[in-house]
Amino acid sequence: MHVVYPGSFDPLTNGHLDVIQRASRLFDKVTVAVLENPSKRGNYLFTAEERLQIIREATAHLKNVEAATFSGLLVDFVKKVGAQAIVKGLRAVSDYEYELQMAHLNRQLLPGLETLFILSATRYSFVSSTMVKEIARYGGDVSKLVPPATLRALKAKFGERGPMGG
Ligand code: PNS
Repeated sequence: MHVVYPGSFDPLTNGHLDVIQRASRLFDKVTVAVLENPSKRGNYLFTAEERLQIIREATAHLKNVEAATFSGLLVDFVKKVGAQAIVKGLRAVSDYEYELQMAHLNRQLLPGLETLFILSATRYSFVSSTMVKEIARYGGDVSKLVPPATLRALKAKFGERGPMGG
């Protein structure tokens, strides 16, 4: 089965990477779909191309994983690549309502399309791109929360500041 793992990935975290790795073991092919333009949630820190490059670098060892950007409706992208299902990660109950709504609406838009959920690894269940950005912006250490490719990209954006922000 070919699945699409969509998201903003601004930037990719170890939580995302864990879901990608586990999906790559379960399915024949995983296409990571990077949303190009945000809807109402403000601007992204990284461009779509930067977010894509981070994902490509971090998943280079996974032979059945590829990544692409998309804009417009996710269901149109799923149709275009010929995938059978969407995969999403679930961290906590707080993710559930939003994911439930999207899964139902996507299935209404493309009848027969399933959304499959992979539960986050416990150790990453508290990691989010938003928090990673905030910590990195103020010089905190996020090296345990993100893969090396993301760490380099964050350092390039925010500079090499120590934990005290100096
Ligand atoms: O990482 P995120 O921000 O939770 O990912 C959200 C994403 C990209 C999966 C969602 O915003 C999306 O699918 N956007 C594309 C537009 C679309 O299809 N909207 C209708 C969904 S019901």
